[in-house]
Amino acid sequence: MRLAVNIDHVATLREARGGIEPDPVHAAVLAELAGASGIVCHLREDRRHVNDRDVRVLREVVTTKLDLEMAANEEIILIALDVVPDLVTIVPEKREELTTEGGLAVAGFEERYTALTQRFHERGIAVSFFIEPESMQVEAVAACGADIIELHTGTYANARTAAEQLLQLQRLQSAARIASEAGLVVTAGHGLDLRNLAAMKSIPSLEEVSIGHALVGRAVLVGFERAVGEYLNVLR
Ligand code: PXP
Repeated sequence: MRLAVNIDHVATLREARGGIEPDPVHAAVLAELAGASGIVCHLREDRRHVNDRDVRVLREVVTTKLDLEMAANEEIILIALDVVPDLVTIVPEKREELTTEGGLAVAGFEERYTALTQRFHERGIAVSFFIEPESMQVEAVAACGADIIELHTGTYANARTAAEQLLQLQRLQSAARIASEAGLVVTAGHGLDLRNLAAMKSIPSLEEVSIGHALVGRAVLVGFERAVGEYLNVLR
């Protein structure tokens, strides 16, 4: 299974002082050197961590795959169409949230998201939607002509008991099955760490996990390349 590294929180640390260090671009290079298969960043409307310069420089520097996470907001859509990342991941976004709290509601908005998918496809950009592991949402993403589906693992990661964790894992397994039968590439992410990651290997057709906060937190202590290596070891 592949590992995509989200470098948003390297930028969060930089923004704590408003200077130029640490640079998320440096983190992206180190993550790639350590074996990451892709780099993810989220350009939020409020630019609380990653900024426009980061996205443009990352586009030049990333040699694996650049995944631009974004809300379906016209200002950000135009930036994405201009920068041309390898893929965009469409997420819900609320200004008051600390992180992306839930999956996107695609069901009921198929017309809107089909049109958006077509705009990106015209520029050669692959499209992923970040959704809750629910069959209704998976089917809606497939109906929009998306290429990839990212299953939100937050509820699984937050499960307090083994029984609840198992239940959430089963939801992810079932959603992944439906998604891969519909021809979507299946990825997952949110809240994954060195303790809860191994179970992701039991999800059929799951090709990639996207990990940010826990990995960057560990990298602060042990170094970026070592932290990425530890996550890759769990996935092997
Ligand atoms: N995938 C998506 C779509 C996300 O929004 C995030 C959080 O930015 C992640 C993965 C990574 O989550 P975490 O930072 O909890 O590892």
